[in-house]
Amino acid sequence: MRVHFFPEGEAAARAFARALNADCAPIQHHRFPDGESLVRVEAAGEIALLFRTLDHPDAKLVETLLASSALRDRGARRIILVAPYLSYMRQDKAFHAGEAVSQRVIGRLLAGAVDGLVTVDPHLHRVGSLAEVLPGIKSRALSAASVLSHLITADLAPGTILVGPDAESRPWVEAVAAPLNAPVLVGRKERHGDRDVELSIDGIAAVEGKPVILVDDVISSGATLIKSAALLRAAGAGSVEAVATHCLAGCSDLAALKAGGIARIRSTDTVPGPTNAASVADLLAGAVREILNQS
Ligand code: R5P
Repeated sequence: MRVHFFPEGEAAARAFARALNADCAPIQHHRFPDGESLVRVEAAGEIALLFRTLDHPDAKLVETLLASSALRDRGARRIILVAPYLSYMRQDKAFHAGEAVSQRVIGRLLAGAVDGLVTVDPHLHRVGSLAEVLPGIKSRALSAASVLSHLITADLAPGTILVGPDAESRPWVEAVAAPLNAPVLVGRKERHGDRDVELSIDGIAAVEGKPVILVDDVISSGATLIKSAALLRAAGAGSVEAVATHCLAGCSDLAALKAGGIARIRSTDTVPGPTNAASVADLLAGAVREILNQS
């Protein structure tokens, strides 16, 4: 059993391989001047664990499909894709006539290329389970709630209130708050554009003078958290921080989040970046073991 990883994900892939006590091999990748990718894999065992987080998805998805095919050509009989962040899960229906249902398209593409898939906190809302998205293969959707609770516990200030910015964040904020016994508020959000959201938070008066931690599954542009932080500070919150499973925000968006009054932003290492503060390697390794033990 060997973990095959793309260079940009080396640190997380090696942590995952250590948790699983497996070998590691880098995948070589070349980008031609016209933008095409060439991928080359090392010799594969019978079971190949293909490690690739799928932020910046358009290029990464193609390269991942190429790597999977190359691993089969190298003799892999079972390929499990370990994608700590699984993109294209949000568009689970056509919100407007004529839109592609991206989740269905990408789910079927991946299910046709690998035999199993493990991910963390996929953005599934109207679809009941990851199995529906990935027909015919074994899959696990893990929750990072325990990892985030553990992270927060380390220096949790007394009286801290956890806030989920929108209805979709409710399961995450409640799961993170439960072991901490911390109070929770949940906002309502209406999105008008990529970076244009309208927000309100029921019961926001409770934050006056209190430390607040915003909890979400994913930070993308940061617009949701910036708007939340503005409301919380206006309501007198003593301090505002944020934790999330996945942080996709780039440098300028992270700077805007800081400027928006969020003193500290922490995420798991599902997407490599400066906010990484906790590893999901053990979670991923446990799920892979489970899949392998089942068959
Ligand atoms: C929405 O449903 C999610 O839970 C996040 O709140 C959202 O994806 C964050 O996006 P952004 O950072 O661009 O506001």
